[in-house]
Amino acid sequence: MATIAVLNQKGGVGKTTTVINTAAYFAKKGKRVLVVDSDPQGNATSGIGLDKRQLAHTLYDALVDPSTVSSNMVVPSAVERLDVLPANEMLAAAEVDLVQILEREKQLRRVLASTQYDITLIDCPPSLGLLTINALTAADYVVIPVQAEYYALEGLGQLLDIVQRVRGGLNPNLELLGVVITMHDKRTMLSSQVKHELEKHFGDKLFKTMVPRNIRLAEAPSFGVSIFEHDKWSKGARAYKMVAEELMRRLQ
Ligand SMILES: Nc1ncnc2c1ncn2[C@@H]1O[C@H](COP(=O)(O)OP(=O)(O)O)[C@@H](O)[C@H]1O
Ligand SMILES: [Mg+2]
Repeated sequence: MATIAVLNQKGGVGKTTTVINTAAYFAKKGKRVLVVDSDPQGNATSGIGLDKRQLAHTLYDALVDPSTVSSNMVVPSAVERLDVLPANEMLAAAEVDLVQILEREKQLRRVLASTQYDITLIDCPPSLGLLTINALTAADYVVIPVQAEYYALEGLGQLLDIVQRVRGGLNPNLELLGVVITMHDKRTMLSSQVKHELEKHFGDKLFKTMVPRNIRLAEAPSFGVSIFEHDKWSKGARAYKMVAEELMRRLQ
């Protein structure tokens, strides 16, 4: 049983894509998997095929009152063994509403304590606010997707600082599992420069697998399916299979 927060305070770096596709792969391999959508944009929720406007309960309800968490909050997806704790724009209010709650950073940990999955993946919002702190407090591991672009390293210092602070107080067991390069284009100098820089900073923590830029990956969420249903022979599918397998090895 492992809980992994997929985190980068930048938007559009591939967090949600990484969560959906690795979760789908693990579920296909027989693991019981929970995706926690901790982004008010609800992209993981819709990308897995749920209708954001048709949710009886969301992560918001669970966070505001963890005692209400019951099996009916977790929604099964079309993929066997893959469940979702969904979110929609209501979750944005949690940043405010949680402020009045004692030990507000531990709400998600309380919520997840009553669930039973082999792997829980938390899709974080593009910020370092209370939702992200909750994710880091509930997680055993952090995975950081980094887009192969010029400003890739900007903000990573601040991110690692937050991880370090949570480790120093709320969650001493938190561990950086690794950094994954996304939207890599092997034809460009820039992509190899970014890889080089990340290797310098992260050494072994940098995943060997890089996710290439692949249009099939961008298309899949509009059909509410993972890359393995959308085009299992695509480069994107191959890459996320390898990311998931590398992730599994790193967990062991
Ligand atoms: N490897 C990739 N190749 C092409 N498009 C991608 C890839 N990874 C993500 N995308 C697309 O880029 C956008 C941002 O990705 P997303 O996973 O939503 O990032 P985040 O969750 O960090 O905001 C989405 O439209 C997504 O479909
Ligand atoms: Mg996202």
